[in-house]
Amino acid sequence: MKLLVTGGAGYVGSVCAAVLVEHGHEVIIIDDLSTGNREAIPAEAELVEGSVREKAAEVLGRGGIEGVIHFAARSLVGESVLKPEIYWQDNVLGSLALLDAMRENGVPNLVFSSTAATYGEPEQVPITEDMPTAPTNPYGATKLAIDHAITSYAHAHGIGATSLRYFNVAGAYGSIGENREVETHLIPLVLQVALGHREKIFIFGDDWPTADGTPVRDYIHIRDLADAHVLALETNQPGTHRIYNLGSGDGYSVREVIEMCRKVTGHPIPAEITERRAGDPATLIASSEKIKHELGWNPTRTDLATVVQDAWNFSRELGDRAHSAARVR
Ligand code: UFG
Repeated sequence: MKLLVTGGAGYVGSVCAAVLVEHGHEVIIIDDLSTGNREAIPAEAELVEGSVREKAAEVLGRGGIEGVIHFAARSLVGESVLKPEIYWQDNVLGSLALLDAMRENGVPNLVFSSTAATYGEPEQVPITEDMPTAPTNPYGATKLAIDHAITSYAHAHGIGATSLRYFNVAGAYGSIGENREVETHLIPLVLQVALGHREKIFIFGDDWPTADGTPVRDYIHIRDLADAHVLALETNQPGTHRIYNLGSGDGYSVREVIEMCRKVTGHPIPAEITERRAGDPATLIASSEKIKHELGWNPTRTDLATVVQDAWNFSRELGDRAHSAARVR
């Protein structure tokens, strides 16, 4: 298929773009490179540089595009509490521009990168797709608003759509991993301590209502996540909007993640407790039974040891690359 991938230079988008190319699809990427990396884009893909709001109509207006995988978004929980305006503008208005361009050009197939943050603090775990959605931060609220928009566009205009609600994505695939200018995610930050790039990791609160007092999350391997996008794309049904959770079904506390990183890296990784981070829920654990049952999704790398090992291999390689680039300069 000829596909538009928005946000295809980002961590999740670039891995999915690589996997789509491996499946024989032709990929056009829209990315403004605000947080993504040009080098992460597969060589076979075309890059249209700019925001989704600016470029969606132009690219879909060329004709011939059969499906869209929409990743481009602001995606940091903490930042969304401090700067909600950029989340509402970029995430919601960008997605509406995209949906409208799909409607106008008769593009029938959409996979959307949604999030566990749409659920908020769950009443019980694991979270199933029929549970209430009550986001605890603007990021989750914008993604939920887009999910609602997709449902109505799907019903009114015959688009076949799937929203994939990711829990905490981590790990690496090939030479692509978490490589952001400003890193805020737990696993890459902990690994930066192991590499000697940071002195210690700060734990955002140890007074949460969890077994060891630190927040619990469900970590899913990026490669397994990418497979789910291919399955969703291939099985979308016109006029139907499906929602699937993507996680491992296991929860790990921040302390347990740090402990696993110590085990994998052999580094002591000093940690210090600090204030809670605004917008964080205490516990997020997915039930992914629906996508396993309905689409046959079969994760093979989603266990914390493999996720951390693959992230560690990537972090070391990235450290080496930065070191040789510095030597060349
Ligand atoms: N944390 C720390 N110290 C840090 C960084 C993170 O204690 O230096 C804690 C956070 O408070 C949180 C946990 O580690 O409890 C995971 O934090 P991340 O920043 O790695 O990830 P989030 O859970 O905040 O969010 C991620 C994605 C969102 C997605 C969410 C779904 O960034 O896009 O997972 O669960 F919505």
